[in-house]
This record gives sequence, C-alpha cells and structure tokens, in this order.
Amino acid sequence: MFQKDLLKGRSILVTGGGTGLGRSMALRFAELGAHLFLVARREEPLKKTVEEIRAAGGHAAYSSADIRNYEAVENAIEAAEKEFGSVDTLVNNAAGNFIARTEKLSPNAFNAVVGIVLQGTFFCTLALGKKWIARKQPGTILNIVTTYASANSGSGFVVPSACAKAGVLALTRSLAVEWARHHIRLNAIAPGPFPTEGAWSRLLPSKDLEERARNHHPMKRFGRHEELANLAAYLLSEQAAYVNGECVVIDGGLWLRGAGEFNDFVDLPDAAWDLLENARKSQR
Ligand code: COA
Repeated sequence: MFQKDLLKGRSILVTGGGTGLGRSMALRFAELGAHLFLVARREEPLKKTVEEIRAAGGHAAYSSADIRNYEAVENAIEAAEKEFGSVDTLVNNAAGNFIARTEKLSPNAFNAVVGIVLQGTFFCTLALGKKWIARKQPGTILNIVTTYASANSGSGFVVPSACAKAGVLALTRSLAVEWARHHIRLNAIAPGPFPTEGAWSRLLPSKDLEERARNHHPMKRFGRHEELANLAAYLLSEQAAYVNGECVVIDGGLWLRGAGEFNDFVDLPDAAWDLLENARKSQR
C-alpha cells in the first residue's frame, strides 16, 4: 500500500516494541526503511524482535528499561542516539492494563497502570521533546490510546487504564498545539480489539469471553495487526505532515455500536423483525 521507502532515513523509538502491536508496528516501519530502537522491560522479546528485523534486512537495536523511571528513559534515548545518531520519531505504545472491579484495587494497582501508561508516555515525550527543541530538530510522536479514551466514555472494570489513556489523549492534543511551533507533531491511534498475548491474557482470558467479544463486534472479527501498523506508518510519514493533534479510531465500528441507542437490533433475528413489522401493519 505504501512506497517501499516511505520511512527511509527515520529513526523511530517504540516503547513496548518487543511484543504485541509494538512489535508489529516495528516490523512494518523497518520494512518501510526506518531504523528501529525498541524499549521495554523484558530483554528476551526485545532481542527476538530486533533479530527478526535484522534477519529481514532492517536496522534495529534495543535497550531494556522501565519507562516509569525517568533516568532509565534518558539512558535508553542515549543508547538509541549512540546507535542511530539521533531519534526523530517516538511511538508511545507501552501499556499496562487488567480487568478488575475497581473497589478491589489497591492504590499501588492504580499507580502501576497510570505509571506505565501516562507517566511513562510523558517521560518519553519530555525527554525527547527537550532534545528536539534544544537542537531545533523536528520530531513526530504517535501515542497509542484506546477507544474508551477517544470517545471520552471511559470504561468500567479498567478504570486505571481509562484514566491514564484519557490523560495521554489530553497530552497529545495539548502538545500538538504547544509544540507545533517547534515542528513537533503529535497524533494518537485508538485501537479497538487487536489480538495480542498481553491484552488477551489480561482482558479476554477465556475462549468464551473471546467468542462473546467477536459476536458483539459489528464486523464479527477482530483487527489485523497489519491494519494498525499501516495506519501508524501513514501518521508517522511525511504524507501526514498536516495531521496534528488527531486521534484516529481503528476498531471496525465497535465503539459506535455501543453508542447508538438501537444498535443492539443488529442481533435481532429475521423472525423477530417479521413479528415487529407484522405488529406494526396490524396497527394501521
Ligand atoms: N487485579 C488487581 N490488581 C492487580 C492485578 C489484577 N489483575 N494485577 C496487578 N495488580 C496489582 C498488584 O497486586 C500490585 O498491587 P499491590 O502492590 O498493592 O499488591 C500492583 O497492581 C502492581 O503489580 P505488579 O505486578 O507488582 O506491577 P508491575 O509493575 O510488575 O506490573 C502491571 C504492572 C500490573 C500493569 C502488569 O500487568 C504488567 O506488567 N503489564 C504490562 C503488559 C500489559 O498489561 N499489557 C496489556 C496492555 S492492554
């Protein structure tokens, strides 16, 4: 769908880049010519993804770091600059989430999720943004949020994540304006359900829940990783140079299904429609 060299010459730092959607985006960006620097806590998946990118002829390196620690973020960026000269693009993808009744959460559970999602995103954005501004270097940032942030709806049972992702969206839109004069562009993607080991094991941990989620979806399917990776590549590319402060939803219409008052009628069998229509005709 894109020119082969769409992201040629770019150095992209992806947090949470060893697994899940971060990995899929990293592989796609590398295919399109970018140099990839992956940051996450666990070394093993990072190493594997970097090896995969290199085996396909791409350029990649990694550093393990917990993005809740600002010093660790600064060290990772330093390592990336050593590897690739400088980093011009940041994808804040690392996340933490779990399903829980909010009244059962400990204060530390809230801190763990908000620390990774909101504070971690802010730390990476701040550390790179400071450098770009000081060097008068343009930069591009993409933040991965969620549909319950983009729709401003929040969501029960994932309250720390809903709070944190809403904050990330506010950060995206605020800095899109504040840093536009520094030629730094920020956008967000709000993905719906895309199967990943991390999300599925925490959010849809049984076949039954997965089947229910698929059946509830208007398109009766989940997202494909390449669909999200291609959207991300577009938003990072120069083709999207005038797209700033935007949040693009990619969920096959799932959140709208919950929003429209009569949308549950998609599950009504034809026989029920016949009954309804016959009842209406008999009232005439
Ligand atoms: N329900 C309720 N509380 C939970 C929980 C759950 N499913 N999982 C963790 N917690 C609580 C812990 O009990 C702990 O609180 P406590 O110290 O008061 O007992 C707190 O959260 C931190 O847990 P811990 O495992 O020490 O934190 P961590 O920093 O190692 O892990 C998480 C952070 C909890 C977000 C973990 O799930 C994680 O690392 N996730 C990353 C990947 C991910 O979530 N991907 C999905 C993205 S959709």
